Amino acid sequence: MATPTLPSVLRAQYEAWPYPQVPLLGSLPSTHPWELHADWLWDRAGSGRAPARPRVWIAGCGTFEPYPWALANPRAEIVATDFAQSSLAIAARRCRLHGQRHVAFPAADLADPPTWPAGRFDVIECYGVLMNLADPLAALQGLRERLTERGVLRLMVYPHWSRARIFQIQRLARLLGLHAGDRSHPALLRAVVKSLKKVHPLRFAFTSYADCRNDAGVVDGFLHAGDRGFTAFQLGALLRDAGLAPAFWFHRPWAQPDAMAQRLELGEPSQGFVLNYLDLWQELRGNFVVCARRAEAPAREVQPLRPHPLFAGEGSLRHRLRLSRLRWLGGRLPSRTGEQAVQLGARDARDLRAGDRLERLVGTGLVLGGRDHGSRLPAHADFAREAEFLQHAAGLRVGRRAPNPLYAHLFAAFELAARHPELGLRDLEGQMGRWLPWADPLEQRPVTFGLTPYGTYTKLRRNVQEHLERGALPVAAGYGEVRLRGDGEALARVKGFLRGFAGLPAGPRDDAALRELFVLLFGYESLFVTME
Ligand SMILES: C[S@@+](CC[C@H](N)C(=O)[O-])C[C@H]1O[C@@H](n2cnc3c(N)ncnc32)[C@H](O)[C@@H]1O
Repeated sequence: MATPTLPSVLRAQYEAWPYPQVPLLGSLPSTHPWELHADWLWDRAGSGRAPARPRVWIAGCGTFEPYPWALANPRAEIVATDFAQSSLAIAARRCRLHGQRHVAFPAADLADPPTWPAGRFDVIECYGVLMNLADPLAALQGLRERLTERGVLRLMVYPHWSRARIFQIQRLARLLGLHAGDRSHPALLRAVVKSLKKVHPLRFAFTSYADCRNDAGVVDGFLHAGDRGFTAFQLGALLRDAGLAPAFWFHRPWAQPDAMAQRLELGEPSQGFVLNYLDLWQELRGNFVVCARRAEAPAREVQPLRPHPLFAGEGSLRHRLRLSRLRWLGGRLPSRTGEQAVQLGARDARDLRAGDRLERLVGTGLVLGGRDHGSRLPAHADFAREAEFLQHAAGLRVGRRAPNPLYAHLFAAFELAARHPELGLRDLEGQMGRWLPWADPLEQRPVTFGLTPYGTYTKLRRNVQEHLERGALPVAAGYGEVRLRGDGEALARVKGFLRGFAGLPAGPRDDAALRELFVLLFGYESLFVTME
């Protein structure tokens, strides 16, 4: 029998586990998806006023996205595609149930352009899909071709460093023999991870991941057949090589590279540099989300100030009733990530409806125009030695105090500054000192979790610094080549642990797999491990 190819395994995964798993009748108020309105996206991206009846393509839509997009864009012509028929069926049923009839649902494979919907689009949404593709650049080039002249592509990809823990849990699952092809495996993985100590960083990463609560989410996050992260430099290069230019970093206030660079006194680096810095040091707790335009699109435009169309009366009767309720009572308007939520007072809602005194609302995101929201930093700069750096950071080091692979991202952060002076990461001590009281300098929130570069900084900095000063350790090709301190006991401990879970695939697991499992399951207490 032929071995199934990765694309066919991936398709089978999403057919079997349509994602995301959201109750069909769960509804959103029509004013909530304000960030998905074509006019808003065009304004933020500097494209001016969107067409009155924009064409929107949601590429890799899953089971949920078409509904909020339809709600946000009542006058748009929307095409929602996915390669999983089961997801399309759920998305279509959801839209029908909520009275959204202006969405078409053809199947399309992003790796196969002849299956794509015809024509060009004013907005293309490709959220969390690109990292599933064998050739993301080819897909992105194709999507760019389908953009209208001033069209906006909103793209989400996983960040390489901030998602390190999720990839480590994926690795753990793979070593345990767990996969999406068995309906019982999400529950088994949940049981294994929840048996770890509360302070275990992988347990924390798992339980704080919103999708861990349902099986389709566990599959998409942790039992995925093949996804990947992108560093900010890789994302920048991908956009550039596809003929796209980043126009607005979408998801969080501090993802706007200018604000970030200013806050951290980073001088005049590129957007890619600032985002890389954010990813490495801050453990970006979201994903990279960027609105991009064709590289040759007309120059950015600043429109006159006007209210966001969703708050100026456009839409269904139900929508207008909701607007009147806001006018009397005010309300909270969430954003997708919850970070930019707006508290809308009754007076604000009245002014928005009347188009009065809009200057007051410029910072809220509920008005269009008024200023250029784009980044003034150059779009991208290469880090010429990144491939070498990434390979080094992932290497398994051998020695008495070898860096614990579970904390590779921490070492990488320090190492980047120490070994790559050409990047100009000066004054790291000052940088870290400034960040210490806050998990996030622009959000000004206290640290709420432990094992991040912030929370652990004071404890770890000296140890990491000493390690770097000791010089390079030899690198092993894999766990088959090394021995842990007390190797026999370590392997026996893992075997005992695995016996505690009825239903775990029996193996065969060689010693190399058991050793790696030991590090992932029990190696969390120390920054260093002894690999002989
Ligand atoms: C992580 S989910 C994201 C779903 C949705 N965009 C969202 O944000 O909720 C990835 C989606 O991409 C789809 N997908 C993956 N590879 C694809 C491909 N080659 N062509 C079309 N869709 C694909 C999957 O079926 C799945 O629905």
